[in-house]
Amino acid sequence: MAEAFNDKTLAPGFLNQDKAARYAELADEIASVLDGEPNLTARMATVASMLASSFDHYFWTGFYVVDPDKPRELVVGPYQGSLGCLRIAFGRGVCGAAAETGQTQRVADVHAFPGHIACDSRSESEIVVPVFDATGALLAVFDVDSDRPAAFDAIDQDGIERILRATFL
Ligand code: SME
Repeated sequence: MAEAFNDKTLAPGFLNQDKAARYAELADEIASVLDGEPNLTARMATVASMLASSFDHYFWTGFYVVDPDKPRELVVGPYQGSLGCLRIAFGRGVCGAAAETGQTQRVADVHAFPGHIACDSRSESEIVVPVFDATGALLAVFDVDSDRPAAFDAIDQDGIERILRATFL
């Protein structure tokens, strides 16, 4: 399945349909794996692993969690990929902007984003989605970086947002 996304000979419409379908399947698979498991670390680790292993355009995939001891600071949580930075202040970089505004940040060119934090110089584009709990409190942000420019579109955003809502709300 993942190989199909690299096949530049397929029409973009087909690719998008395929990708949306894969996100929908993953939502079901993740819900099934996590059925009855309340632990947040286990839930985050499973989401990061299953998404990272499903898509070739994902390069670094993981959570920055709101630090309970420093409520305006994110600390790295479960992730897949090369070494990530440990802490990010609210308002700093793409993750900090998502935490500050509570809005998904989709960045086609990270080099053009003011204050972008380059944990890995291969990162070219990224999407960061805020994660809320059932009380409406910000729990974490989910960060996906790609080594390809403009790797994330509205289908990725919708797919990721749906999975996060279903897993943590
Ligand atoms: N790209 C993020 C920093 C975290 S990492 O790259 C793993 C940002 O600017 O928010």
